[in-house]
Amino acid sequence: MPQPIQSDSNAAYINTTIIGGSLKEFRDDALGFFLKLHKQYGDRSIFRLGPKRFHAIFDPELLKEVMVTKADLFIKSATFGEIKRFTGEGLVLSDGELHKRQRRIMQPRFTRGHIQHYAEKMGTITDEHLQQWKHGTTRELTEDLFGITFDIIAQTMFSFDSRDRLDRIGRAYEVINRIATEKLRALIRLPLLIPTKQNRAYTNAIETLNEIVYEVIAERRKQKDSPKADLLEGLMAAVDETDGTGMDDAQLRDELMAIFLAGHETTANTLAFAFDYIMRHPHVEEKLTEEWACVLKGKTPTADDYSSLPFTQNVLWETLRLRPAGYVTGRTATADVMIGDLRVRKGESFMISPYPLHMSSAYFEDPHVFRPERFENDYVKKIPMLAYFPFGAGPRSCIGNHFAMLEMVIILAAIGQRFQLRHTPGHPEVLPESLLTLSPKGGIRVTVSLR
Ligand code: HEM
Repeated sequence: MPQPIQSDSNAAYINTTIIGGSLKEFRDDALGFFLKLHKQYGDRSIFRLGPKRFHAIFDPELLKEVMVTKADLFIKSATFGEIKRFTGEGLVLSDGELHKRQRRIMQPRFTRGHIQHYAEKMGTITDEHLQQWKHGTTRELTEDLFGITFDIIAQTMFSFDSRDRLDRIGRAYEVINRIATEKLRALIRLPLLIPTKQNRAYTNAIETLNEIVYEVIAERRKQKDSPKADLLEGLMAAVDETDGTGMDDAQLRDELMAIFLAGHETTANTLAFAFDYIMRHPHVEEKLTEEWACVLKGKTPTADDYSSLPFTQNVLWETLRLRPAGYVTGRTATADVMIGDLRVRKGESFMISPYPLHMSSAYFEDPHVFRPERFENDYVKKIPMLAYFPFGAGPRSCIGNHFAMLEMVIILAAIGQRFQLRHTPGHPEVLPESLLTLSPKGGIRVTVSLR
């Protein structure tokens, strides 16, 4: 990286002279890029991706101002144009009053108390998938986990049985994931109206998912007389207190799409990385199997078992530290604002990654080491709030955090107590790939044997 020079604000300005700025480094290895940015330029810097400048901050106090205390002065959607074409005005990328209203409607379905109701389904669905696992066979772990988590989100949130359409859905997501990531990072974004091969594939994949989502909505409208206690029911029943209107199909489509997007790949990838770490750390596997044998004794975990599985939880917290599925987000100022003593003008953007803080020895001893025990005794309460934030923070934090943790504990324990997983012989090291969510590059192939 070239030497920084001072910009008009008091942060170091990276790559002022190179056309494209830091685009190549960001594209090749986003996690490495953020780490390097932190190491070389400290807690604040400004970098450029193509024509656009971004602030990067790695000071927990400054991050707290952007994400929590001054969150009202920022929007999220401006930095995610291409994904927005796919999620529309769903919760992940809506802003302002619409976001506030939709979040208010959805929040009660995601409280710690409410998600307990989903635990049984999470266990049953995992068990059903595991019936196809045979002793001594080889499996593509990432695909299996994708299938389980997609089924869980579809059935718990929308009472939708996706099993016969899972292949089609999986393929569509893969296309969207790759192309949306490329488009987000590309210097020149060709509008979707221009029929390049890539644009056609992207539009077709979105159309496939649209068809399925609109079908789910239409089926539910027909079943008006047999209400279901799921998120879709809540969304359909919600009326705006100001004008008394409900959500139209387009808004419902956007919300479903956003929940599908945010709610399955994140958990599938985190679980895949967790299994990768477990396979590489025999003492962790031993402690886990002891915990499962002692608490579960072979039965599928339920919501009541969650608090009795602290080591399983800590394995996931440690995985989320080293492999945060939500590795990057953005905010754009809607007014001039001071962040600490940093002057930020209306329209300027932040690119935010938790990774450099998760890898900082100021907060985590031996940060490169996979050590779930570090989360014992409420460790995160002893460090600043924004030193560890795999689920974000403030009004845009992950609405599905309790859901995700419960689901991941159930799936990890259900699989792990029944099967021993091993990488296939000669398996390459599993590296993270920064797609829409952090993913295991090239997938993970494992041989499974009954315990
Ligand atoms: C390991 C699993 C997961 C991780 C690491 C994760 C991470 C995150 C992060 C970091 C954010 C905030 C992004 C920002 O600040 O801009 C977020 C937002 C969100 N997540 Fe998750 N998530 C996970 C699972 C889930 C699940 C299971 C659901 C749904 C059931 C979900 C639904 C959402 C939604 C709707 C938002 C947008 C919230 C808003 O802007 O109001 N996530 N997630």
